[in-house]
Amino acid sequence: MSIGIIGTGVIGGMLARAFGRLPEEQVIIFNRSVAKAEAIRRECSRIRVAHSLPDLVTASDLVLLCTRPSDAEEVMTEIGPGLRSSQTLATTISQIPLAVWEQQTAARVAKVIPSITQTVPSGVVLICYGSRFDGFQERFEMIFSRIATPFVVEEHQLRLSSDLASCGPAFLAHILSQWSVAAARVGDLSQAECEYILSRMLMGVSDLLKNGFTLSEIIRQVAIPGGVTQAGIESLGADVQELFVRLHHATSGGHPSTVAATGIKVRQPDVFSSPYINGTN
Ligand SMILES: NC(=O)c1ccc[n+]([C@@H]2O[C@H](COP(=O)([O-])OP(=O)(O)OC[C@H]3O[C@@H](n4cnc5c(N)ncnc54)[C@H](OP(=O)(O)O)[C@@H]3O)[C@@H](O)[C@H]2O)c1
Repeated sequence: MSIGIIGTGVIGGMLARAFGRLPEEQVIIFNRSVAKAEAIRRECSRIRVAHSLPDLVTASDLVLLCTRPSDAEEVMTEIGPGLRSSQTLATTISQIPLAVWEQQTAARVAKVIPSITQTVPSGVVLICYGSRFDGFQERFEMIFSRIATPFVVEEHQLRLSSDLASCGPAFLAHILSQWSVAAARVGDLSQAECEYILSRMLMGVSDLLKNGFTLSEIIRQVAIPGGVTQAGIESLGADVQELFVRLHHATSGGHPSTVAATGIKVRQPDVFSSPYINGTN
């Protein structure tokens, strides 16, 4: 499989490094400012830098388009007509509907929403299939299973699932960071010490989950009836759920999907060049 990556910024760069480490994949990259792509090639000598967008498209079975939405139209105008039906175009841009991408090319189209956790590589990569994927899904998911756990969603589920899989690491990091500030306020530890303990605690929880524990099992084993953990959980009350309902309401504004859990309807872009400049995350 040869994988071509267009746009080697935060996400495209991460995917290039992740796939570039795998001996079985050939990775070819192209970025508007060449220096960024060259820097990645220096890190990973197996990666080739394409001379141009058409050069990348010709050499790739799978083209990963990882620019910002506002740059996508220009790229698609150049590569869309040249992509063949035997090729796959996957994009990390969630805001533009699949049907709009499919109008631009004969290739099969999917949305792929990665997460910073694929730097390691770990976590969830969301996949949303277009209409031309019949019989090719298993192979596609196999490619991404080498760097993460693929999770297939429908287009209308993409915003909510992106909050969990892709924005989730930042939400969790923010919560733990605020927790360390609060802990330092109430006791005799510095914020740095609290943050260190919480970070190591999170790594331990991650290992428990890897070893088959569920979230409810962890709670059951730690929160003994009448103990301090149970008192702490009760002190959080029902506000925790409301906090996250508020978060999902906040993120769903301006995206072309309906958030089923909240019933929020948001606007649909009707042309490829809609000025959707906000990223998924
Ligand atoms: N960041 C995340 O955690 C995350 C997660 C999931 C999905 N996404 C989505 O992934 C996309 C990329 O996000 P990002 O954070 O990686 O953005 P970014 O860091 O700004 O990277 C975008 C890259 O695209 C390049 N580019 C722009 N036009 C190009 C063209 N015509 N040809 C080749 N390369 C071109 C840019 O090159 P220059 O160096 O010249 O600017 C830049 O390196 C966004 O649509 C975002 O919504 C992001």
